[in-house]
Amino acid sequence: MKIKSADFVMSNSNVMKAPKDRIPEYAFIGRSNVGKSSLINMLMQRKDLAKTSGKPGKTQLINHFKINEEWFLVDLPGYGYAQISKKKRTIFQFFIENYFKEREQLVFTFVLIDSRHDPQKIDLEFMQFLGENQIPFGIVFTKADKLGTSKINNQIANYKKKLLKHWEILPTSFLTSSETGLGREEFLTFIEQTNQDILKDFQ
Ligand code: GTP
Ligand code: MG
Repeated sequence: MKIKSADFVMSNSNVMKAPKDRIPEYAFIGRSNVGKSSLINMLMQRKDLAKTSGKPGKTQLINHFKINEEWFLVDLPGYGYAQISKKKRTIFQFFIENYFKEREQLVFTFVLIDSRHDPQKIDLEFMQFLGENQIPFGIVFTKADKLGTSKINNQIANYKKKLLKHWEILPTSFLTSSETGLGREEFLTFIEQTNQDILKDFQ
């Protein structure tokens, strides 16, 4: 897919106030600092479209971007960021949870996992939550540039082994690097294909 336009639409903490356009939507979620906002910039080939930071907890709201005037891409706050207060964390979780439960346009969710890390409870629990709510998702292994090829393959194989203890079928997965652009074509082709497949549901 060729990216002709990528525009920031709005940020908010209430899914009910999100854009009303009936177009397919794709969400990016994962632990704080995993590289959600960086991946969006890499895919769109725009340096500062989504705000990134070396410090976890940068993205705090639901951010809608409209791509090619045809679909939405959504940058979400990270989960599992220990530094925010307990009260704030509860509100956080509530509006993220609500987003997933209420957003009718959502067609697919990308769960980002740092390819250097072994499977973590919080990510597995989040996938469980998506499964329980019948939300289709795939896994994106990020920051591939930080590991050598054989180490990466090992990590991914281990991750999949762990997933097979919980799931009968493995979710679609991608390997990406926002530094090198690895995985970009594959990712955008997946979205293009999914858009075509669900077109009839949006007419
Ligand atoms: P929150 O908004 O805080 O939840 O974080 P996020 O998941 O949006 O992460 P963000 O994109 O802000 O990136 C966090 C840090 O990781 C930044 O310092 C990025 O430069 C770095 N980073 C993200 N992706 C990559 C990657 O593919 N390779 C490398 N080397 N660094 C990356
Ligand atoms: Mg972010």
